[in-house]
Amino acid sequence: TLYTFVNQDTCIACGACGANAPDIFNYNEMGVAYNLLDNNQGTLNIPKALHDDLEDAYEGCPTESIKLSKIPFNSRYINS
Ligand code: F3S
Repeated sequence: TLYTFVNQDTCIACGACGANAPDIFNYNEMGVAYNLLDNNQGTLNIPKALHDDLEDAYEGCPTESIKLSKIPFNSRYINS
């Protein structure tokens, strides 16, 4: 499983993630990216077919704003 969201506080709206993974990332009116699959909640498992794109976006973000996790972000700290 793989979950993702964009830290919109550090995204500089460079546009690389949407180019690398157009089925995952879109931009708001300010050009700041978000995960379009779950409204940037990081709670929807990214389909396997999109994992290569996601990896490219993750590695290509100049500000490390794309966060990845094997568990949903809303349960990230449960039982920790
Ligand atoms: Fe922002 Fe990084 Fe995408 S800076 S637009 S999250 S590549």
